[in-house]
Amino acid sequence: MLQTGFIRNCWYVIAWDHEIPTDGLFTRTVLCEPIVVFRSGTGFAALEDRCCHRAAPLSKGSKEGDALRCGYHGLKFNAQGRCVEIPGQDHVPSNACVRSYPVALKNKWVFVWMGDPAKADLTLLPDNFSCDSPDWQNIPGYLHYDTNQLLICDNLLDFSHLSYVHAATLGGSTAIAQSKPRIERIAGPGPQGIRVSRHVPDVPSPPFYQRFKSYTTNIDRWFIYDFLVPGTLIMKSGGKPVGGDPNDFSDAVQLHSCQTVTPETEHSTHYFFQQSHPTGSGDASVTQKIYDMLVLAFNEDRDMITAQSQVLERDPSRGFVPISHDAALNQFRQLVRRLVEAETLA
Ligand code: FES
Ligand SMILES: [Fe+2]
Repeated sequence: MLQTGFIRNCWYVIAWDHEIPTDGLFTRTVLCEPIVVFRSGTGFAALEDRCCHRAAPLSKGSKEGDALRCGYHGLKFNAQGRCVEIPGQDHVPSNACVRSYPVALKNKWVFVWMGDPAKADLTLLPDNFSCDSPDWQNIPGYLHYDTNQLLICDNLLDFSHLSYVHAATLGGSTAIAQSKPRIERIAGPGPQGIRVSRHVPDVPSPPFYQRFKSYTTNIDRWFIYDFLVPGTLIMKSGGKPVGGDPNDFSDAVQLHSCQTVTPETEHSTHYFFQQSHPTGSGDASVTQKIYDMLVLAFNEDRDMITAQSQVLERDPSRGFVPISHDAALNQFRQLVRRLVEAETLA
């Protein structure tokens, strides 16, 4: 099912901070709007990637100190999008400006606010702490999807697919699809969303875990995550040998993951992700192994979701047959629909 509109009054991740060069310009499209991002002062500036003079993309210009100079006829714009210099002309008209977007940096994620700038609210940023914490190690990842954002949200809200899509990577047992998650609404304060808690007792350790911990017995696994508007997953997951002291995590695998989807257009999506392990757990190669396995698994998702999207596009009018595993994704879609409607009516 295609999306009927985007939520605008929320923060979307446009980049990992390392993607924004020190002395250059970075461009990416969010909600169909090309945006140029650059470092300015101690933070970032995000401007519409279209010069107000003759519509050249500003990303083809250059950064000059805390400002940006258009690469076509040289108009210079400050971080607020105001033109501060027109070469060969003393007067700068008041309408010589481009749209600027509120930007926030939190734990290596660079966010842009796509709605009314007056409503930009830092308390609506997710708590993506493990992206940048001395206690957690990870390698940041990015994938591009040629599908609508909501199909990826659907996938992240129903982990029963781990048993099938990721049988050889993250899953390893059909028991994941057999287990019933608890689903709760997150009403705020902070970003709204759905909390999904899934416990999977007494299953073989998945191939993914065996890369950095060898268990000789079955393990109990858990996945507990918040899935927040507009499409951010913040998850604690792990496993430990069956039958042990429930309060003893000394032999547990414990992971923390932050993932977020940002619509590029209605038909394409940016996917930012990382899965962290505690600092000091495993040898030095563990971080790389987790990242490699994650990329492999997320390509499994992308292959399936892209194929699904192509089938849907052939005949979008046909419906689905719901099953109980759809509960969380249906609730999330309902929430998105309500927020989009509320913004349309406002
Ligand atoms: S198009 Fe940018 S200065 Fe002319
Ligand atoms: Fe998946």
